[in-house]
Amino acid sequence: MENQTVSWRIPFNKPGLTGNELHYIAEAITRGQSSGGGGFTRKCHALLQQILGSGPVLLTTSGTHALEMAALLLRIQPGDEIIDPSFTFVSTVNAFVIRGARPVFIDNRPDTLNLDEAQLASLVTPRTRAVLPVHYAGVACEMDRILAIASQNGLAVVEDNAHGLFGRYKEKALGTFGCLAAQSFHETKNLICGEGGALVINDEALFERAEIIREKGTDRSRFFRGMVDKYTWVDIGSNYLPADILAAFLYAQLENRQQIMARRRRIWESYNSSLHDWGLKHNVQLPHIPPDCEQPFHMFYIIMPTLETRQALIDHLKSRGILSVFHYLPLHLSPMGRSFGGRRGGCPVTERISDCLLRLPFYNDLSENEQAEVVAAIQQFDRWTPSNIAKAARSPVTGTRYGCW
Ligand SMILES: Cc1ncc(COP(=O)(O)O)c(C=O)c1O
Repeated sequence: MENQTVSWRIPFNKPGLTGNELHYIAEAITRGQSSGGGGFTRKCHALLQQILGSGPVLLTTSGTHALEMAALLLRIQPGDEIIDPSFTFVSTVNAFVIRGARPVFIDNRPDTLNLDEAQLASLVTPRTRAVLPVHYAGVACEMDRILAIASQNGLAVVEDNAHGLFGRYKEKALGTFGCLAAQSFHETKNLICGEGGALVINDEALFERAEIIREKGTDRSRFFRGMVDKYTWVDIGSNYLPADILAAFLYAQLENRQQIMARRRRIWESYNSSLHDWGLKHNVQLPHIPPDCEQPFHMFYIIMPTLETRQALIDHLKSRGILSVFHYLPLHLSPMGRSFGGRRGGCPVTERISDCLLRLPFYNDLSENEQAEVVAAIQQFDRWTPSNIAKAARSPVTGTRYGCW
């Protein structure tokens, strides 16, 4: 990505290490098991399942691949429909579209930026197979309502929990509500291993086939457990199994999850309290955490009053060497989304949020001084007048090039 060549005084993201990553990676290599399914992979499975209180967990090569496995496990066929937010990462949808599904885009709630459960029932048709709640910023979707509508209509619920590891809804861990849930350990997430993910399998009837799909359509996992004396091709599948080297990296992060979460909590709370009055004064919306939700402090965003003020603020921060980024472009307005019938005005809340949302620098090692600089720079932002904004919009350093992460 282009912005990796630019050196920011305060970048948007820095992958955080906790200490044991290299040590465990060396252990995986010297033990002679660097490929998938080794000791660190098994330790990650067990620890994740225990922490979440979920069904079995399988590490995957990415969050995208966990979602692809979900679509395979649900036997999604051409002509099936899925209901998914337009305001999400492309993989939530593409994982199902590559099986032939048609995405039906649902708009957001303006407060949590999650799918608006009040619109869900009206989008269900006889072809709908699944609904995909994405817990944006790790703040839970209204799972009670979503699960009730899904159950009334015989739909599978697959949680895209890429942001929400360790988030909770009504005291229950995110990732444990759907029959399946996808996690991501991409380097921008709270817990990382470079590229990686996990599939949480809460419907245990899907577990055996999940192992097969992840092992190239073979019963190799059962062979390694001594349950069959040779392994063979039994179903469709692919290689969704990450190297034990990556599992070793992830295990170090999992062991230090409390330290990671405490740091992120401090950063989130500090942004929230420092920007509260400024937000009220300038009509800037800060994140809303409903009382039933415990969030995992994945990101801090602000919602500016207009696209122009958002772009001008990106530009202003950039002039101080601070990288802030916007987030998802509405999927229903993308070329692919339009080919499925998406049109402007189709998801008005998503369209506004996509124009106005700005994510602030957020990483485990963001120091108090650096954060104070970001806050001070925001508070000194003065380009609220139309003429100043127009000037910023004409500026060659406008933030679009550095925008989406
Ligand atoms: C909501 C959401 N879903 C899925 C993914 C895909 O995860 P990965 O990058 O691990 O494939 C991401 C990645 O950023 C995401 O934000």
